[in-house]
Amino acid sequence: MFLIKNIKELIQVENECIPYRAGVKMQELNTLKKAWLLIKNNKIHDYGEMSNLSLEAQQATEVIDAEGKMVFPCFCDSHTHIVYANSREIEYIDKIKGLSYEEIAKRGGGILNSVQRLRNMSEDDLFESAWERLEEIKNYGTGAVEIKSGYGLDTQNELKMLRVIRRLKEKSELTIKATFLGAHAVPAEYKGRQKEYVDLIINEMIPMVAGEGLADFIDVFCDKGFFTVEETERMLMEGMKYGLRPKIHANELDFSGGVQVGVKYNALSVDHLEYVGDAEISSLLHSETMPTVLPGAAFFLGMVHSPVRKMMNAGLPIAMASDFNPGSSPSGNMQLVLSMACIQYHMLPEEAINATTLNSAYAMDCSDTLGSITRGKIANVFITKKIPTYEYMPYSYGNNKVERVILNGKLQ
Ligand code: NIG
Ligand code: FE
Repeated sequence: MFLIKNIKELIQVENECIPYRAGVKMQELNTLKKAWLLIKNNKIHDYGEMSNLSLEAQQATEVIDAEGKMVFPCFCDSHTHIVYANSREIEYIDKIKGLSYEEIAKRGGGILNSVQRLRNMSEDDLFESAWERLEEIKNYGTGAVEIKSGYGLDTQNELKMLRVIRRLKEKSELTIKATFLGAHAVPAEYKGRQKEYVDLIINEMIPMVAGEGLADFIDVFCDKGFFTVEETERMLMEGMKYGLRPKIHANELDFSGGVQVGVKYNALSVDHLEYVGDAEISSLLHSETMPTVLPGAAFFLGMVHSPVRKMMNAGLPIAMASDFNPGSSPSGNMQLVLSMACIQYHMLPEEAINATTLNSAYAMDCSDTLGSITRGKIANVFITKKIPTYEYMPYSYGNNKVERVILNGKLQ
């Protein structure tokens, strides 16, 4: 049992478990000033104001004094690709010089570059490099992360990636969810035979992935130039037979129909959403699908921004995640996502905090155990450095304001 006392402000306090915040409610953020937080075993046991310290809290043997510091629930990063073999800064230079996506692909860039490299890398080496990235994001305050496959693109290498994720789950204190993304791109050896590749995913990959219990979710890159709505439907239907709930890459490059197909198959989330209009918004309303925006990818690729204010005005919730991957978002810093939410998407700090904690917990099916300071939830919290206000978190962009991270009730 340990106590954090003299907390300047305890952020995102929810006495009752709520799944997410939507619309105008995203502006709500409950906090307690001059607070304490008691952690027992791996759970948030109790909290309150210092003027009202419980008897149990008074008896805690391990005590941290957080004078001048704040405590937040850890970020939940509901969309990443952190198992990968190589960085792709050469492609980045080509992009700076003005080369198009097609030209970059011709020079061996893009997703297929990562595929080639990953196929040649051992499971152990992949594990080691992904482990380092996990440590890095943990130090920025991430306590839960969803990780996708999708750089293998053949049965053996997709299984290899998912086994790496399983090992990360076993060893790490972070909460980890695994997503099968065999439909990330068509691999070179299937060029011109996309239907056959989709058949391979359906007939071989999904049954094997599910047979080994390697994935929690299934993802498809449903967008212009990648997979069609019809192909997406076929793959989602097969995945759902095995209990894999969809999380879709949708509407990054065009009005692709990805949002609607995601909602049709009760996706947990549809992600990217640069191209969203009235049809997409009305399909998402009254669904159980979390619209998820990835500010890092839009920033890095210089894309149009998702109309998040319009979506919130319509009553929708918004989650935000890092999309940490070597091609479109080589950073998993959720504090930077928080800043980008405010600066580039004009979200209020309260909305941005909801998007990166509670709502992103929902987008990885964890909002009953993570995403807020609620009695009984898993004690994944961070203590900040001394900061003047919680608004300072998005304001002071690019700096690490996190001092200590606690995962499963253990100081990291
Ligand atoms: O989420 N949009 C599709 N896939 C990734 C990019 C992956 C890559 O370029 O390696 C994304 O942005
Ligand atoms: Fe992605």
